[in-house]
Amino acid sequence: MSENKFRQIASAIEARIDRGQYPPNSRLPTHRDLADDLETTPATVAKAYKLLVEKGYVESFVGRGTFVKGKTELAQVIQAPDLETAYNFSILQPCLAQSLPMLQEAFSQASKVLSTELIGYTEFSGHPAHRAAGVQWAARYGLENGTPENTLLVDGAQNALSLLIIALTKPGDTIAVERLTYPGILAIASLLGRRVVGVDMDEDGMLPEHLKAVIRHEKPRLVVTIPSHQNPTGVTMPEARRKQIAQVIAASEVWLVEDDVYAFLNSETIPAICNWIPDQCFHITSLSKAISPALRCGFVKVPDSQVSVINAHIRANIWLSSPINYIAAAEMITHGSAFHVAEQQQQIARQRQRIAQSVLHAPYTASHGYHIWLPLPDGWRAERFVMEAKSRDVIVSSGSYFCPDSQESDHIRLSLMSVSSDQRLAEGLGKLDQLLQSEMNTLFHF
Ligand SMILES: Cc1ncc(COP(=O)(O)O)c(C=O)c1O
Repeated sequence: MSENKFRQIASAIEARIDRGQYPPNSRLPTHRDLADDLETTPATVAKAYKLLVEKGYVESFVGRGTFVKGKTELAQVIQAPDLETAYNFSILQPCLAQSLPMLQEAFSQASKVLSTELIGYTEFSGHPAHRAAGVQWAARYGLENGTPENTLLVDGAQNALSLLIIALTKPGDTIAVERLTYPGILAIASLLGRRVVGVDMDEDGMLPEHLKAVIRHEKPRLVVTIPSHQNPTGVTMPEARRKQIAQVIAASEVWLVEDDVYAFLNSETIPAICNWIPDQCFHITSLSKAISPALRCGFVKVPDSQVSVINAHIRANIWLSSPINYIAAAEMITHGSAFHVAEQQQQIARQRQRIAQSVLHAPYTASHGYHIWLPLPDGWRAERFVMEAKSRDVIVSSGSYFCPDSQESDHIRLSLMSVSSDQRLAEGLGKLDQLLQSEMNTLFHF
C-alpha cells in the first residue's frame, strides 16, 4: 500500500462531502466497511478519517462513529414543520394564532379595495400609499428620515439583504458582520461568493474599536448589523453604542446595512443608527416578525443617492412586491392593528421569557426578545447537543449556524415563540433542562 493511500481516501471522502453525497451530520461508513469496499485495511481508513478530523470535515466519537460536521444551511436552521409532534424551538417567528384574526380581517378589507390599477404592472416598484405605510411602520420604531420617496418595497427583509449585497458589493468583496450573525446573511454571502468577517461584540453589541480595526485591515465594502434583539445573541445596542457605530461608519467609506426587523420588541423606542448617517445607511425592516412571515412585506429606506440604483435592482429581480400583500399591510398599519398585534407579540415574548427563566436551570443572559442564546454546560458541543435533543423530540438550532466560518460552538439558540402554547413551551423546555442537567457520560462516551 502506498504511503499516500490514506490521503487519496481522505480526498475522495472530502469530494463526497462537498457534493452532498455524505450530508452534514451523517455518519461515515465504519472503518471495516469502507476498507472492504476499497480493498484496503481498516487502519488505512482510520488514518484517512483522522486526517479529515484534522481538516475539520468530520468529528469522531468513540463508540459512535465518525460524523460529517454540520455546516450552515438555512434548511438546517429552520427545521421540521413536518415534525408536528416535536417541540420546535428553531423558528424565529411570532405566535401566529395571535396574528391570524387580524390578517384575515385585513385581507377581507383588502379585497374590497382591489382595483384594476392595483392588479396590473406598474412603472414603479411599489405604490406610494404602500411606501407611506412603510415609513409609518419604521418611524414608530425609531427611524427618523424615511419618506415615501426613499422607502422601497421588497419581499421581506431577506430579499432586502440579498438585493443590497448584490447592489453594493462584487464577488470577492468583503462584508463585515457581527461575530455571530443571522444565517440568512451568511447564506447570501456564501452563494454569491462574498467573504464574511466577524466584528467582536460585547453586551452592548458590535464593538466600535474593533469595527474600526476591521474596516482598516479587512477593507469591507459593507457592514451589516442587527441592532435590536440581535439574532442570535439577543443583544440590543443602546443609543450611545449606536451613535458610536454611526461615527465609525461616517469616518470611513463603507456602507452600513441596519437590519432592524426586531425593533418593535424594544421596550422603549431606540433611535435607528441610520438617523445619524442617512447618506451611508440602508435601513431594513419587515412585518414578518411582528405579524407573519407569510406576508413577505419588507421596507428598505435607502440613501437618496441610491434610490434609483436599488429600484433598478428591485425591478430586475422581482419587478414589484405583491401589491395585494401591501394593500393588507397598509390597511393594518394605517388603522393601527399592526401596532396592536406587535405589542401583543411583545407581551407574549415577555411571558415566555419568564416561563423559560422558571424552567431552565442553566445560566444565560435574559432578554425581552423572541429567543435565548443558551451556553451549554462544559464539554458539550452544539452539534451533538442538537442531535441528542432531536432524539427527544426537541428541535433547537446549533450555535455553529451563526458563525461566519461554521466553527464549533458551545451555544444553542432557542426560539420561544414557535411552539403553540405556553404549556408546550414549558414541557419542551423541561425536556431540554433535563438533558442540560444530565451527566454527559451517562449519555455516551467521548
Ligand atoms: C435578523 C434577521 N433579518 C432578516 C430576517 C428575515 O426576515 P423576513 O422574513 O422579513 O425576510 C430574519 C429572520 O429570521 C432575521 O432574524
